[in-house]
Amino acid sequence: CNMKEMNMSDMGSMCQAGNSGSGTPIDTLQAPQTAAHIDTFTLTAQPAHLSFGLGNASDAWTFNGTSPGPTLHVRRGDLVIVHLVNRLSFGVTIHWHGITVPNSADGVAGVTQDAVKPGQTYTYRFLAKDAGTYWYHSHQESFEQTGHGLYGMVIVDPAMPIAHDNVDTALALHTWNSIPTLNGAMGTVHVSAQPGQWVRLRLVNADNYPYHLTLVGTPFLVAALDGHDLNEPTPLTAVPLSIDGGQRYDLRFRMPESGPVALLIAKDGDREYAKTPAVLVGQGQFVSSALPSLNQNEFNFATYGQPRTDPITLQSHFDATYSISLGFTLGFSNARPGPVFTLNGKSFPDSPEIVVKLGQLIRLHFENDADSGIHPMHLHGHTFTILTKNGRGLTGSPVHLDTISVRPHESYDVAFYADNPGLWMLHCHNLYHANHGMDMMIVYP
Ligand code: C2O
Ligand code: CU
Repeated sequence: CNMKEMNMSDMGSMCQAGNSGSGTPIDTLQAPQTAAHIDTFTLTAQPAHLSFGLGNASDAWTFNGTSPGPTLHVRRGDLVIVHLVNRLSFGVTIHWHGITVPNSADGVAGVTQDAVKPGQTYTYRFLAKDAGTYWYHSHQESFEQTGHGLYGMVIVDPAMPIAHDNVDTALALHTWNSIPTLNGAMGTVHVSAQPGQWVRLRLVNADNYPYHLTLVGTPFLVAALDGHDLNEPTPLTAVPLSIDGGQRYDLRFRMPESGPVALLIAKDGDREYAKTPAVLVGQGQFVSSALPSLNQNEFNFATYGQPRTDPITLQSHFDATYSISLGFTLGFSNARPGPVFTLNGKSFPDSPEIVVKLGQLIRLHFENDADSGIHPMHLHGHTFTILTKNGRGLTGSPVHLDTISVRPHESYDVAFYADNPGLWMLHCHNLYHANHGMDMMIVYP
């Protein structure tokens, strides 16, 4: 395993077969290393009254008075220390969505810590191991608390930036009172950029259902999914993308010589994009008669970019395979009235548990046969590699995600190295579904 890929072992991380590419776990504890920098932040959970524009406002629960809360910028290799101060009248936590934190920093109330009580503080410590776009949100009553504003974004910059984007903006999608907002505002977000500059837009879906979006004004690249770079992305022209709850898309493009670039958005179920662009990059007016159709082939990661050798897609042996079918029944779950979302017919805490051993390569098969909706399945503490979509292998770039959107009649095989001991959740990131039973645990004995 590559020294550069190692991390501080005082957090329980070990050099794994996933890095060596040999398929043999190297279970040697590495000597502690010093983090490049220490980044310290304080996030105070507090009430606020937020206005979204055009007279729309709401009482909210926020980190530091805004929603999204502060975007935390760190560098790969840094030790991140976050002090959570709770000034709300109920317990909260912070989960670091997509970041492979040690289990003790995972922020799952009732599993890795107790919810932080009003007036109390709690400190999270983790290494920013991988560059990319991530986010954070409360994981105590996640559906309610994230919905009411307790979330923000985390950007991990590469340790040594090679080709830096001139403009780099993180944007969170979130619905308030049925009104979609970007970074907490209705209407258009204006981003300035000059002709010829490279622009990166990092989109985070902090909602519970997909949005459809595209960029018009210039061809664009899907540079990364869930913070993980795609290999040799190819230019797309006005192709619709779907971003589901919990997922991230990094889009890159070069500003054209003239005219703005517009990000257009449609809510799931809309027939066309909203006429007002969600984001306008550069100078000039966007002409809404130029709206492209939503009814064209969608971006499909299974065929995008160029193949590359990948330590997991090369494997043909898995230590265990679990099949998980995503479904729905009527009844009660967790004593919550309403629909029940199920994993193999059971809802949490009766859902199946997956027991893994350190170093194992685990395959998960997700299938959504029922018409129970779209399920963005999120795994804590690990990143998985997509092996197949609807039974077929990927023909483009390897794809590494922490949240896979499984639509009705779709199936996926994914695999991950069990390289991060602890108790980890695997759940639907439609947090309403999670709230209604669609959760299970991955357990290291
Ligand atoms: Cu972003 Cu368990 O969640
Ligand atoms: Cu779901």
